[in-house]
Amino acid sequence: MSHVLIGVGGGIAAYKVCSVIRHFTEAGHDVRVVPTRAALNFVGAATFEALSGNPVSTEVFDDVDEVAHVALGRKADLVVVAPATADLMARAVAGRADDLLTASLLTATCPVLFVPAMHTEMWQHPATTANVATLRERGVTVMTPANGRLTGADTGAGRMPEPTEIGLIGDLLLDRASALPYDLAGREVLVSAGGTREALDPVRYLGNHSSGKQGYALARAAAQRGAHVTLVAGATSDPGEPAGVDIVDIDSAVELEREMSRRARDADVVIMAAAVADFRPVDIAGSKIKKGAEGPAPIHLDTNPDILAGLVQSRAAGDIPRQTVIVGFAAETGDEDGGVLDHGRAKLRRKGCDLLVVNAVGDGKAFGTEDNAGWILTAEGNETALPFGSKTLMASRILDEVAAVVPHS
Ligand SMILES: Cc1cc2nc3c(=O)[nH]c(=O)nc-3n(C[C@H](O)[C@H](O)[C@H](O)COP(=O)(O)O)c2cc1C
Repeated sequence: MSHVLIGVGGGIAAYKVCSVIRHFTEAGHDVRVVPTRAALNFVGAATFEALSGNPVSTEVFDDVDEVAHVALGRKADLVVVAPATADLMARAVAGRADDLLTASLLTATCPVLFVPAMHTEMWQHPATTANVATLRERGVTVMTPANGRLTGADTGAGRMPEPTEIGLIGDLLLDRASALPYDLAGREVLVSAGGTREALDPVRYLGNHSSGKQGYALARAAAQRGAHVTLVAGATSDPGEPAGVDIVDIDSAVELEREMSRRARDADVVIMAAAVADFRPVDIAGSKIKKGAEGPAPIHLDTNPDILAGLVQSRAAGDIPRQTVIVGFAAETGDEDGGVLDHGRAKLRRKGCDLLVVNAVGDGKAFGTEDNAGWILTAEGNETALPFGSKTLMASRILDEVAAVVPHS
């Protein structure tokens, strides 16, 4: 059990924080909610008390005998501030301590996550931009807001990321027990995720069990480390909505290849986490294939392009910048020719990428699960175990390795 302090600012998104509180209480953590005075205009203290099971105060002069502003900050393993209003971030940057939340922020030494939410103009104002940059310099993780519906009928950048996304990043900070480095700032990261669908006719396809969760976790974690992320996504099941990530939808391996090879030209890092079908039907029927009296017709298959190997070849040919880091994934099962890791090593040599993440699959492992484990192999022969953990934690460990090899700009 960890101690999670949830600070709530005075923004309309305060109501969504109720789901964030639930996320942490249901995981068994001790949650203390510290709203600002303004936050209580949006959600009442009774709601926060009932959801967290703990008393709620806003003032440093409440519970003076406990010296709450010192106790809460010191005790916390994680502080999540959501919604982080423009005003609250300005107060935090200035080191103000005029309410229980800002005072607690000055005494907290654990990882701190700010989740901004505000109108686009406020988010893009130079004052807010400077405050966010200062918070990040101080080691605070400031989530990139989503694009979407704001308070009224208007839409734009500044929408609070969904509670599940906040929970995932909060869990990541708890797992890492340290701040998330902002070390991919200004980098273009291209990620593929999900499974391809190879059409047979207008209603049927050949597919696979990929949920897209690992690729989405990589996109999510890269965005929170400052990268501009484009996610080329095939078929997925409930992988979340990573905030601040551009998503391009594809169906087939051929479409995926087209998008990846075009977009890789501008990328600093390319991560091929999609589960690409090796084969596709030679013919796609123009109308639904009928049962017929003579039983099913055979399906003839063609081999799909090897996208990962193709990207490496394009880099060698100069179509993709020489310094672009290419990361592959291998979902392997052991067999009579060798174990999972042996197959991974052979694949790395065959494909020629810089890093290869190897997962063991089968027996319910990796596909569709919330957790993962594996190894990350480098072209130089280094092998690092990726211990069992959430796919977000695995993503952040993979990005630790990626950030170490991305050339400095
Ligand atoms: C209806 C309403 C919605 C608001 N929503 C936001 C918001 O989403 N983000 C924001 O930065 N400020 C918002 N504000 C302004 C803040 O409430 C105001 O700046 C307040 O001083 C913030 O207090 P805090 O520092 O305790 O968060 C809103 C105000 C109102 C009246």
